[in-house]
Amino acid sequence: METRGKFIVFEGTDGSGKSTQMKSLMKYLTEGGVKCVMTREPTESPFGALLRSCLTGRVEADEHTIAALFAADRLDHIRNPHDGILKLLEEGVSVLCDRYYLSSFAYNGGFVSLDWVIDLNTPAMQMLRPDLVVYLDVPPEEGMERVSRRGVTDRYETLSKQRRIRDNYFAAFSRFPEENVAIIKSEEKKERTQENIRRVVAKLYGWQA
Ligand code: TYD
Repeated sequence: METRGKFIVFEGTDGSGKSTQMKSLMKYLTEGGVKCVMTREPTESPFGALLRSCLTGRVEADEHTIAALFAADRLDHIRNPHDGILKLLEEGVSVLCDRYYLSSFAYNGGFVSLDWVIDLNTPAMQMLRPDLVVYLDVPPEEGMERVSRRGVTDRYETLSKQRRIRDNYFAAFSRFPEENVAIIKSEEKKERTQENIRRVVAKLYGWQA
């Protein structure tokens, strides 16, 4: 029987460098003989596409609807019989995921009741908890600077919102101490950040550092 894959989630405020670091980790794991895939939320599914339309304002929706859509998109991401995360893990594939339910607590929980957002995500929490959450920590000022260099900003990308989102993340880590979170400083030198991520991930796979 295949050994179950590992589910590794990346979290962080905007401009924390998740996608760069995920790509580099993917390379490391693949070279180490691990079968793995990268995925993200909102997903590429029709549910994720609808969500993106809501986030850009092309489809008008209130914050409750958006929070519920995130939870629905997540359930499909977990359970889709074709390419859902549970199926991949059972096939022995490790899954690197850009954002998961902690994003809902940090982002959506700032707009509507956090307890309600937690309730919406309780099924996902019961079905699939990450083996590891890599939280890339960037000072909000620096994250905003990186984001503005990219040129596109979304509705959460103001300094005061980013500060609040970061606080919400840390409140969620205290509220759910059972989550296996590694807080890793997102350094100016990307290679150093990656080394720190690899150290934690190597431990998860039982490899020598
Ligand atoms: P992001 O990873 O920043 O995507 P991109 O790099 O394409 O901009 O995520 C998109 C936005 O969705 C981001 O502002 C955070 C938000 N979000 C939520 O509000 N709740 C959630 O549950 C998730 C997964 C994301």
